[in-house]
Amino acid sequence: MNQIDYLMDMRAEKINSAFYLYDNEKIEENFARFESVLYPHTSVFFASMANDNPVLLGKIRERGMGLFVNSLKHLRLAEACGFPSERIIFASTGLTSAMMRHLVARGIRLHLDSLTQIGQFGKLGLKTEVGLRLNTSERSRISPFTGNDSRIGIQDHELDAALETCRSLGLAATGSHVYIGTDIVSVDEMVAGIERALELSDRFPDLAYVDVGGGFPLDETRFDFDDYNARITALMSDFSRRRGRPIRLVIEPGRAMFGNAARFYAQVTDVKRREGHYFVCVDASASMIPRAMFYEDYNPVRVMTNGKGARPDFDQPVDIVGNTTYSRDFLARRQTIPQVEIGDWIEFSQAGSYCYSMITRFLGQTFPPEYLAERSGALTLIRPGDLAEEAVQ
Ligand SMILES: Cc1ncc(COP(=O)(O)O)c(C=O)c1O
Repeated sequence: MNQIDYLMDMRAEKINSAFYLYDNEKIEENFARFESVLYPHTSVFFASMANDNPVLLGKIRERGMGLFVNSLKHLRLAEACGFPSERIIFASTGLTSAMMRHLVARGIRLHLDSLTQIGQFGKLGLKTEVGLRLNTSERSRISPFTGNDSRIGIQDHELDAALETCRSLGLAATGSHVYIGTDIVSVDEMVAGIERALELSDRFPDLAYVDVGGGFPLDETRFDFDDYNARITALMSDFSRRRGRPIRLVIEPGRAMFGNAARFYAQVTDVKRREGHYFVCVDASASMIPRAMFYEDYNPVRVMTNGKGARPDFDQPVDIVGNTTYSRDFLARRQTIPQVEIGDWIEFSQAGSYCYSMITRFLGQTFPPEYLAERSGALTLIRPGDLAEEAVQ
C-alpha cells in the first residue's frame, strides 16, 4: 500500500479527515535547483510567508539557506528553528521604533521602506548597516501593483534623497531589496526585473548585496531555469566587475520552494445537483486551503479512484465546495471530473505554498495535519494539526 492510500484509509473515519501530504523528493529537487545558481556570491533566502512548517524550515536551515521574514512571529519562528541572525532578513512596511530596536538588538538585517522610516530609524541612534526596499514594477501574473499603486518601497525619484539621508545619519546603506513579482514564467521578464534592480542599486555607494525577492513560478516545468541561471550569472559577474568588488545576489523564492511538493486531500461528503451544474461538498473548507480565497488561484483537482475503476464524467461542470455555511466556500470551480460518491477522496495539487500558511480561523475549521512522504516509504507527521489525533508509525 503506498503512503497516500495508507493515509486515506487511516483518516477516512475521522471527524475531520482532510490532510496535507508533502513529497520529500520533490522538495530536494527544488532545493537543488536553487542551490545550482552558478554566480558564486549567491545566497538563497526562503520567504517564510509561503510556508511556515517548522520541519520544512529546519530543512532549509540544514541546507545552509536563509529565511526572509516579514513579521515578529516569523522572526521568532526562524529563531526557534535555529537560524542564526546572519541567515535572517527582515523586511516589512511601517515598522515601529520598538520593532526597529528589537531587530537591531537581535542582529537581524533589516530593510527600510520609506524616507520617513529612514528618518525614524536614524533618530534611534542605532549605528548599523541597513538595506533599502525599492519600489520597482512588479511582474506578477495575478494582480500586480506597479508605480503609484504599489504601496511598498522607496520610489525612483526618492532614492537619491534616501541615500543622502542615510549618509547624513551615519547609516551605511549596504543592500537593496526589490520584489520582482510572482509566478513569472518568462526568463526575459525575470531578467528585466533584475536588470532594473541593478540599475537602481548602482546608485548605492556602499552596496554589498542586491536582494531580488520572489518571481519563480510554482510550476517549474514552465520556467527555463538553466537559461535564467546563465543569464543572471553573466549579469551579476559583469555588475560586480564594474563595481570593483563581488556584489552578493540574494534570491528569495517563496511559492517555488514547496509549492509543487504538496497535495491536499479531502473526502466527498455530499453531491448536489443544480440546474446546469453540480456542487460536490468535501470534508474541508476553502479556509483550510485558502490561496483562492485571497486571489482566485484555484488548486488543480483530481478524483482519486482508489481502484474503483474508470467512471464517466459528471454531465455538467462541478464546483467543489466546503462543509461550512459560508456562501463563498469554494475549493474549485467549473471542473470536469469523474462522478464521485460520498467517501471518495479529491486531491488538490500545488498545495505547498500559500496554502497551509494562509489558513484562517474564520469559519472555525480544524487545522489539518501535514505529513511528509519519503521515496523509501517512510511517512512522518510534520505538523499534527490542532486536534493532534494520532501519530504515524
Ligand atoms: C519581498 C518578498 N520576497 C519574496 C517573496 C516570495 O515571493 P514568491 O512566492 O512569489 O516567490 C515575497 C512574497 O510576497 C516578498 O514579498
